[in-house]
Amino acid sequence: MSALPGSSEGTAVTGLDSSPVEADPRVLADLPPLTARTEAEAGEIIARYPHPRSALLPMLHLVQSVQGYVSPEGVGFCARMLGLTKAEVGAVATFYTMYKRHPTGRHLVSVCTNTLCAVLGGQQIYDAVAADLGVGHDQTAADGSVTLEHAECLAACDYAPVVTVDYEFYDQQDVDSARELVTSLRRGEKPAPTRGAPLTDFRGISRQLAGFSQHADVAAERAAVDGPSAGVPTLIGVRLAAERGESAPPMDETPGSAPEPEPAGAPVGASGGTPAEQVGDATVAVAGNPAEQAGAEQVHTDAAEPAGREPVQRGHEGSDTPPQQNPGAGTPPPTPGTSIEREV
Ligand code: FES
Repeated sequence: MSALPGSSEGTAVTGLDSSPVEADPRVLADLPPLTARTEAEAGEIIARYPHPRSALLPMLHLVQSVQGYVSPEGVGFCARMLGLTKAEVGAVATFYTMYKRHPTGRHLVSVCTNTLCAVLGGQQIYDAVAADLGVGHDQTAADGSVTLEHAECLAACDYAPVVTVDYEFYDQQDVDSARELVTSLRRGEKPAPTRGAPLTDFRGISRQLAGFSQHADVAAERAAVDGPSAGVPTLIGVRLAAERGESAPPMDETPGSAPEPEPAGAPVGASGGTPAEQVGDATVAVAGNPAEQAGAEQVHTDAAEPAGREPVQRGHEGSDTPPQQNPGAGTPPPTPGTSIEREV
């Protein structure tokens, strides 16, 4: 059973609102219009790419930077500017979570509730902030200050539990610090992120994601780009290695260079140099029966192919289907302009 966008079964499976983008008359009345300037900036974005359709992702950010979400008007605007159908634009806009389907508050607060953050308190943070705001996932506080969302891993697990505001990082949060952060935002303050650029707002960061500066002048833009990006948890491994005098083995960067071939007659599974490979070798050596031997050999990836297995053929990688049963095998990749490229 497939869960189609906009279906009740999709909502039942994901727990998220899967309704299509719809116009809300109350919201449309207050929506800033997409102007001639928006159109000119869309033209600038399109000019960056060899094909207009390639500009769709930054165009959607541009629409969000003006209207706070991807409105029905924004979908039509992108379709018209890029020569796409509204269905094609909608399919992309509803696939990525960074494109919002409802008007967003001044700030977007994302609380990571994925594995590492969750075990360190991410869910408690989310629950506390949701209770303070009186909203749930993808909903906006009544004062319009903050939209709250659950987030999957925010790629900062070394700083768990993590909260972002308008995609800027607030690391190693707990319930109290996150509540204070959101309270500050509602007061109109902009607490400094733990690292990275200073906080602006959701429309500002959307403008930046569209490829335009969101800052008043070059100095402010430069300061944002030069903000600190790495902290102690990120660098701890590097520092430990430096203290111990350890370094990575040099890489042979000679073009076309290949690993040294194994000496003729070397026993299978006995060429490992790394500790993991040596463990694998030892396991193979002590395995006492055929089943153990077979299992042990799986830990060592340089074991010989089982007898009778055909070598992988060119253009047939990743498939055990013989070429004659696999019409796509061995055919060249589609050239630009083919039907595959036109699909969204
Ligand atoms: S699990 Fe939260 S940042 Fe990775």
